[in-house]
Amino acid sequence: MLDVVFLAMFVVVPLLTASVFLVKARGRYQLHKTLQLVMASVLLTAVLLFELDMRVNGWEQRAEPSPYFDGTNKWTCPAGISLIVHLSFAVPTLLLWIYVVVQALRNFSRPPGPGPHSRAHARTGWLAAGGMAMTAVTGWIFYWLAFVAV
Ligand code: HEM
Repeated sequence: MLDVVFLAMFVVVPLLTASVFLVKARGRYQLHKTLQLVMASVLLTAVLLFELDMRVNGWEQRAEPSPYFDGTNKWTCPAGISLIVHLSFAVPTLLLWIYVVVQALRNFSRPPGPGPHSRAHARTGWLAAGGMAMTAVTGWIFYWLAFVAV
């Protein structure tokens, strides 16, 4: 699951960029909605499976060969610190995504288009998109420090 989520982020980040471009520059509101809902469901499923994998198998054993991991100083070695940084983006971003999607579904018209919710959605939407980009970048850094570096 670690590898699946690592690779999935290479799809999500360009897809998110495309979705924001389509809505902002092309006015493709319905396509933006569909893309965001697909992304949200895929990400939610990935997070659930990923959490299950972490609870069952953990990551420490697989990080043992890395020079950036130290089992006796799990949270103060570079891999551990990078995981804390990653989680401090990932957890608030997950909550913010749920909030942005729920608010958008409740407050935009059907089919979706600009309206009274636009200003609030633009603000929280950009924050959520930025949070997701940072989650991906910090996740890749953790992945490299823990599982790739030799
Ligand atoms: C986490 C999911 C989502 C993110 C990150 C997101 C992000 C964004 C961003 C960054 C913009 C451009 C704002 C700007 O003009 O600068 C935007 C616009 C828009 N989004 Fe989303 N969005 C999400 C989900 C949704 C959903 C589910 C809907 C529909 C129910 C929706 C409908 C719209 C509409 C109608 C606009 C155009 C608003 C306007 O220009 O007046 N979005 N979104």
